[in-house]
Amino acid sequence: MKKGIFIVLEGPDRSGKSTQAALLKTWLEGLGREVTVTREPGGTYLSEKIREILLDPKSHIEPMTELFLYETSRIKHTLEKILPALKAGKVIISDRYTLSTTAYQGYGRGLDLKIVDTLNRIATLNLKPDVTIVFDIPDKVFAEREKTRPGRDRIEREPDSFRRRVNRAYKLLSRRPGMTRVNAGRPVEAIQADIRARVAKLLKK
Ligand SMILES: Nc1ncnc2c1ncn2[C@@H]1O[C@H](COP(=O)(O)OP(=O)(O)O)[C@@H](O)[C@H]1O
Ligand SMILES: [Mg+2]
Repeated sequence: MKKGIFIVLEGPDRSGKSTQAALLKTWLEGLGREVTVTREPGGTYLSEKIREILLDPKSHIEPMTELFLYETSRIKHTLEKILPALKAGKVIISDRYTLSTTAYQGYGRGLDLKIVDTLNRIATLNLKPDVTIVFDIPDKVFAEREKTRPGRDRIEREPDSFRRRVNRAYKLLSRRPGMTRVNAGRPVEAIQADIRARVAKLLKK
């Protein structure tokens, strides 16, 4: 049986993650792989319920409560969807995973990064993605896309200062060892080509 592969796409809202996930899935399926695309928060019945709470503008959620809700959603997602897919030899592409919590709750909300790292480890049962692709979006492009954002959910309604902190955090995190940074300010096809080249290396293993 083929070996399971866990691919994570990370980056700010509207950086193109969902667009690239769909294209990557099509390409991998063309190569004969079974592919599951999933997302965080979400991916299972319970995790999608938690997503609704997290994104509901009527929810009043303190930073530490928010952190635990994301991690609770993540444990269930990891246990019920990601690990079984990997065991079955599938490719699983997750739109966001632990790096989002570091960027939003750590750098964005200002929670202790050590606490965030510890809870990330617990919630993933120590599972590490085979690759984390971080979408780095140039400030100008970010500002352009912000203008067209729907601005409906609780996170999208956060002030610009919060969103800029998250964006800066992603730039920093994208340069960490082990991360694959892509310049997401380019045409869709150019970004996809970079992602495929990176994923192709994993297919050979
Ligand atoms: N490389 C790109 N260049 C220009 N627009 C893009 C690009 N990638 C995605 N978009 C557009 O930007 C918006 C956000 O893309 P999306 O894939 O939904 O981002 P995310 O999943 O990261 O929030 C969509 O309207 C999408 O069509
Ligand atoms: Mg998306």
